[in-house]
Amino acid sequence: MATPHIGAEPGDFAPAVLMPGDPKRAERIAHTLMDDARLVTDVRGMLGFTGTVDGKPLSVMGSGMGQPSATIYVTELFREYGVERVIRVGTCGGISRDVSVGDVVVALGAHTDSSMNTFRLPGLHFSAVASYDLIRAAVDAASEEDNVHVGTIISRDHFYLTPDGQTERLAKYGVLGVDMEAAAMYGVAAEFGKQALTILTVSDHLLDHSKDMSAEDRETKFQGALKLAVAAAFAE
Ligand code: HPA
Repeated sequence: MATPHIGAEPGDFAPAVLMPGDPKRAERIAHTLMDDARLVTDVRGMLGFTGTVDGKPLSVMGSGMGQPSATIYVTELFREYGVERVIRVGTCGGISRDVSVGDVVVALGAHTDSSMNTFRLPGLHFSAVASYDLIRAAVDAASEEDNVHVGTIISRDHFYLTPDGQTERLAKYGVLGVDMEAAAMYGVAAEFGKQALTILTVSDHLLDHSKDMSAEDRETKFQGALKLAVAAAFAE
């Protein structure tokens, strides 16, 4: 039966779901990666597709922007559709001086300024971490040219408001980049005993805006991250 935010039937989703933020990117991934992609949900324009890659079932669905949106979709996928793993594939702003635009970041863990995980365990600072099995599969699939970095990111609630000096301080602590969804997705996976991973392409650098990506580059440079995400989706 459909959920409030997903119009699919039971069995419509594969055990693994790739999740870009943008539903149109979900559609492009479905049609480039899968031979037989079919639309399984389009509630509120949040497109979801299921098909096969090398004969193995895979789904792809948009998560929307921000931790509340991602939490709604991932919760319903885990709770109502038997999904076992979600792999976020998106972009991030670079923070560490070790990462460059076009590099790939595998988010081992995600700091956050959001209260969504604090709400789960009041009084504690929840460690939002990825599935080790998925990390291993993704990293094993990477080649030298993919410029992959494995480490922490921060999932912020605000895109446009950042406390003065915070980005520089995070860079000092080795934080690789910033997105707006990973910490909450890791929290939902912990809640349901399922697996999650976030793989991001660096689209711009917060401490050096001279090399930000064009919209066209975002699509082509995205392919390296996608290869890692598919490997994680099919991890043994
Ligand atoms: N925040 C800031 N810059 C960014 C982000 C973000 O979430 N994603 C890509 N660039």
